[in-house]
Amino acid sequence: MRARAEDLRRDGRKLAVVPTMGALHEGHLTLLRAARARADIVILTLFVNPTQFGPKEDLSKYPRDEAGDLAKARSCGIDLAFCPDVSAMYPAGAQTFVEVRELQQPMCGASRPGHFAGVATIVTKLFHLTMPHLAVFGEKDYQQLAIIRRMVRDLDFGIEIVSVPIVREHDGLALSSRNAYLSGEQRPAALALSRGLAAAEARFRAGERDAAALIAAARAPLEAEPLVRIDYVELRDATELTAVAQITRPVVLALAAFVGTTRLIDNRVLASA
Ligand code: PAF
Repeated sequence: MRARAEDLRRDGRKLAVVPTMGALHEGHLTLLRAARARADIVILTLFVNPTQFGPKEDLSKYPRDEAGDLAKARSCGIDLAFCPDVSAMYPAGAQTFVEVRELQQPMCGASRPGHFAGVATIVTKLFHLTMPHLAVFGEKDYQQLAIIRRMVRDLDFGIEIVSVPIVREHDGLALSSRNAYLSGEQRPAALALSRGLAAAEARFRAGERDAAALIAAARAPLEAEPLVRIDYVELRDATELTAVAQITRPVVLALAAFVGTTRLIDNRVLASA
């Protein structure tokens, strides 16, 4: 992969990478199209990264469909796919990790200890191997995106990070590879996440600036849904991810909830017009 990337760079080509864990859906394809519009060479990476899964998480049953993923990616005009196996990415004795100390702590970091060190480390490795000029990530994984932006800035990667808005189903459910786990009964219950965000945003647009009131508005639809168990609902500074009591600058309202055993996340940035 590195040799190919070096050759392409030597030829003056602009490289974009879209890192994924596969199970590609329309959200990923939107990232690939954004990359296609900005670069000469689009590289898709497919790697289910074990170091970002906790011991009790769904690594072994994470959906995998490499052939299907490659067919979908080809329809978006990718040039290269990099699909390493675990032993290639983590040779025996690997013990170096990248951590973005403060941004990794709250929200998903609090419920998934070690998750973001796994993400930052694999993204670093994928960047070193694919040598891109730009990389495209989705805004659904808001904290991940904030961490990658900070890491790229702090460690002088010299890579442009492009973000793409959340892609939703017609009824508002944010697209996620984990939606495949939802049963027929759980699928409508999962709409409580986007309903909660919409309720809070409506209060914000009507002038509410108190974080506790907005969080309560977001929690209400989730609490009313028996199949949903809230992990967190938080309102934080959009860049620093620090807690906010009164909104005076752009914030992110982020939430995670279990629908049955499936953990879903969603978010909305609230900023005055
Ligand atoms: O967002 C994902 O799919 C993963 O966290 C990423 C960025 C590909 C790293 O494994």
